[in-house]
Amino acid sequence: MTLSGKAKLAGVIGWPVAHSRSPRLHGFWLEAYGIDGAYLPLAVKPEDFETVLRALPKMGFSGVNVTVPHKEAALACCDTVDDPARRIGAVNTIVVEPSGALHGSNTDAYGFIENLGAGVPDAPAVLLGAGGAARAVAVALLDAGAPALRLVNRTHARAEALASDLADARISVGDWGDWTTCLAGAGLLVNGTSLGMEGQPPLEIALDALPADAVVNDIVYTPLETPLLANARRRGNRAVDGLGMLLHQARPGFAAWFGVDPAVTDELRDHVLESL
Ligand code: ATR
Repeated sequence: MTLSGKAKLAGVIGWPVAHSRSPRLHGFWLEAYGIDGAYLPLAVKPEDFETVLRALPKMGFSGVNVTVPHKEAALACCDTVDDPARRIGAVNTIVVEPSGALHGSNTDAYGFIENLGAGVPDAPAVLLGAGGAARAVAVALLDAGAPALRLVNRTHARAEALASDLADARISVGDWGDWTTCLAGAGLLVNGTSLGMEGQPPLEIALDALPADAVVNDIVYTPLETPLLANARRRGNRAVDGLGMLLHQARPGFAAWFGVDPAVTDELRDHVLESL
C-alpha cells in the first residue's frame, strides 16, 4: 500500500530485531484493512533505548511494541503503566498519548487468555516455568479467576520467588518431576518453559495423572505441534498451541495505533506460519 504524508507510524523495538514476527503480523493487518500506516522493525541497542523511546512522540509515532531485551527498561521509562505490566514486570506495548506521554502496557496476559478461547477451567491450573513468559501466564491465570495455581519449575527457588512476588493465596509451588501430585485434579496444564522448542531439550513429563477433560497449552510455537501437545491430543485432552498467544497479544496495540480492532483469522495464522 502506498503511504500518504498522514500515514500512522508504529513498529517494534528490539536488539536484535530481525527475528521478530511482528512486522509480518501487523503488515498483514495494515494491508487487509487498507490502512494508511506502517509498522517498522527498529533495531535499537540497549544504551540507546531511552533516547529512542523519548524521540518517538517528536517523530510522530503512534506507539511501538517492545521486545527482548528492552521490556524491563520500557517499564521503567514509560510515564504511566497498566496494572498487568507492573505485576509482570515488563512492558510490551507503548501508546503515545496526545500529550506526548508514553503509556506502557503488557498484552501477553490478554493474548494468553484470548488464545485459550473457552476461558480458564474451574479447576486448578498447573504452570511449568518461572521465567518472564511464565510470569505473564501466571498473572493472566490469576486475573482470569483460576481457582488455584500450581507453579512448578526446575529451579524451585525461582518458583517460590515468583509466588512471593505475586502474593496470591491461590498459588502453591510444586516439585519438578513429581507429576502425579502436580497434575492430580488439574483443569489446565501450561508449558511456560522453553523446553520442547526447536533446538532445546524436550519437555519430559508423565501425563498419567492429568484428568481427561483438562486443557493443555504450550506457549512454545516452534514447532507448532510440540511433543507435549501431541501427547495430550493422543490421550484425548484438548490441546491449544502457542501461536495464537502471539497473534492475540498484538491486537490491543494495533487497535490503539491504527484505530481498528483486527481479527485473528486462519489466513493470518497461515501468513505468520510461513515465516516460522
Ligand atoms: P523466558 O523469559 O523466555 O521465560 P527464562 O527466564 O530463561 O526465559 O526462563 C526459561 C524457563 O524455562 C525457566 O522456567 C527455566 O527453568 P529454570 O528457572 O530452572 O532455569 C526453564 N527451563 C529452561 N531449560 C530447562 C531445562 N533443561 N529443564 C527444565 N526447565 C528448563
